[in-house]
Amino acid sequence: DKGVYPYYMLKEIDEQVIVAHTLSQHYFDDEANIQNIDASIIEAIQSSDRLYIVAAGTSYHAGLVGKRYFEQWTGIPTEVHISSEFAYDQPLLSQKPFFIFLSQSGETADSREVLDNVVKQGYPSLTIANVMNSTLTREADFALPLLAGPEIAVASTKAYTAQIIVEAILAHAVGQSGLDLKNELAKVAVEMQVIIDQKESFKDIAEQALQNRRSAFYIGRGLDAAVAVEAALKLKEISYVQTEGFAAGELKHGTISLIEENTPVLALLTQSKTAGLVRGEIAQVAARGANTIVIASKSLVKTGDAYIIPDVNELLMPLLAVIPAQLIAYYATLDRHLDVDRPRNLAKSVTVQ
Ligand code: M6R
Repeated sequence: DKGVYPYYMLKEIDEQVIVAHTLSQHYFDDEANIQNIDASIIEAIQSSDRLYIVAAGTSYHAGLVGKRYFEQWTGIPTEVHISSEFAYDQPLLSQKPFFIFLSQSGETADSREVLDNVVKQGYPSLTIANVMNSTLTREADFALPLLAGPEIAVASTKAYTAQIIVEAILAHAVGQSGLDLKNELAKVAVEMQVIIDQKESFKDIAEQALQNRRSAFYIGRGLDAAVAVEAALKLKEISYVQTEGFAAGELKHGTISLIEENTPVLALLTQSKTAGLVRGEIAQVAARGANTIVIASKSLVKTGDAYIIPDVNELLMPLLAVIPAQLIAYYATLDRHLDVDRPRNLAKSVTVQ
């Protein structure tokens, strides 16, 4: 039930705070030790030589972020694959692969096809899903829940942040994050609420930047590039503004020729290592007439930026950076008088290949 909310999507955006708490309580005990992740899962991952994350759509995008945690904290090389591609063009696998399926529904046909093949080949697998007792959770060797509660809106929001949190917790459990992750996630939840409490500011950004626009771009580098593709999917999926999300450094290799007077370019700026470069790219599109909307973390902000994201550990910034994008997509769609929860041509769960 939507309760006081006009659309499920807005309710589900708000619920991300509570989901972060729920996951923390489920996967950490009072002493911040890991619980509810069976030792056999951790051992299976530790004894593998490469992780293959397989998913579709938003879940694939959550995998792009999770790759960083697995590689940085466990030292195990990690590949992220689109299930519909992997299913028919399986790449050359390592000696001891371990498969991680990410899915909100647990029923995505493309991902099920890959899991079928993986099981037939005898490789170990884990499904991280929101709907437990789904095909993907039942047929994998292991399963971990996202505990996000029912996600009704076609545009996935809370399942994305839940997937990133569970990936972080799992990587931390398998390896060495060097972080007090429970505490860091508590900070994330607090700052998520701060952003959500300011949701009206995204109404203004959506109207100012996207009204009457047919196309838009999201750019960023590193983890911000991973969030940019999810941000673009959110916006295009429900508002029908044709949006591309990509690594900012790729602009000069082609896309910059699309920039015209007033083309909206939304830049995500939360990664200090590449902030200077992204500033340069923002200046280049601005010089060609783009309407640049910079969403920067507090430590990297400059005057003229459209929105400041509170700072948390940089590796966890995707959990915050995606929220402005979700809200911008929501308000841009409202502004167009479209059905936020039920975009045309789309089903919540894609059960055909
Ligand atoms: O249920 P799944 O996570 O496996 O679904 C995968 C995609 O179909 C899904 O994320 C889709 O891209 C969403 N509509 C995006 O908002």
